[in-house]
Amino acid sequence: MRVLSGIQPTGRPHWGNFFGAIRQYIDLQEANDGFYFIADLHALTTVRDAEAMRQNTLNAAIDLLALGLDPAKATLFVQSHVPEVSELCWLLLSGTPMGLLQRCVAYKEKVDKGLSADAGLFTYPVLQAADILAYDSEIVPVGADQVQHIEVCRDIATKFNHQFGETFVLPKAQTLDHSAKVPGTDGEKMSKSYDNTLPLFGEVKKIRKQIMRITTDSRAMEDPKDPETDHLFLLYRLFAGGSDVQAMADKYRQGGFGYGEVKKAVAEVSEQYFADAREKRAELESNLDYVHQTLRDGADRAREVAATVLSRAQTACGLR
Ligand code: TYM
Repeated sequence: MRVLSGIQPTGRPHWGNFFGAIRQYIDLQEANDGFYFIADLHALTTVRDAEAMRQNTLNAAIDLLALGLDPAKATLFVQSHVPEVSELCWLLLSGTPMGLLQRCVAYKEKVDKGLSADAGLFTYPVLQAADILAYDSEIVPVGADQVQHIEVCRDIATKFNHQFGETFVLPKAQTLDHSAKVPGTDGEKMSKSYDNTLPLFGEVKKIRKQIMRITTDSRAMEDPKDPETDHLFLLYRLFAGGSDVQAMADKYRQGGFGYGEVKKAVAEVSEQYFADAREKRAELESNLDYVHQTLRDGADRAREVAATVLSRAQTACGLR
């Protein structure tokens, strides 16, 4: 199966990115043809500093490789290195109803808040559709917040196929049960724009402090609590194995423990969980030639596929 997904280089990746999406990339690379990219063109809607863009893009590549993405099994590339996608985007834009995009959450939220939005943000989902359709993608592993975008992509593809004949493969979003919407330190969805993220990499001490500051309710220690509604428990569950999770859930139901104890457990399991990736990351930092070469090879392979699909779409609508 062709699997594709992308991540924006808008800052350091967090637990939500990993457990909602990146972990799926790595699992799926084993038995599928994985295409994973760093969505720098999408990031351009918010990152307006050239040096930050360059640095974030390189960092995102290092992060993905450190976490286990294997260029021998999957194709890793930078979105803007495949100009065919931007060209395909125009073909799709031409037939996309305004109403479809007006309903999309990121744009709607901004306008509802009375802020002015750029055309880039408005048409963001169409570029995302081009990303997906350019590679005949079948499965798109993402967190819950991206599902609407995959639906929009299906709508756009269906309309094009209907107007010009079968051209695009219709993709399906794939989310994970327990981690499609990872909570942040305040219990809301973990998101770079809410300032509630826990980073995958960075200074251990600092991350530990952030974990200790996770908000908790003010119920008495003795009170029994429902683990399923507590974001601290949900974060613990991301890392711990079956029997440890069961034991922690029992503790919640019985009551008589302090949240500080759970926070310490979260800090310990998370440090252990990312220890190997942290080490691998340091190695990659000192081997940037390898990272750049991987991205070049990835772009070559990605362009080959995207050029075929673009040409198919151009022919279908009479441009060739
Ligand atoms: P981005 O960069 O915001 O996020 C990357 C991936 O992380 C997931 N994610 C989460 N999952 C669970 N819980 C959370 N709290 C959480 N926060 C983020 C996202 O769902 C995403 O899968 N528009 C995309 C990038 C993109 C893309 C694409 C994705 C561009 N083109 C084509 C798929 C296919 C984005 O902004 O992701």
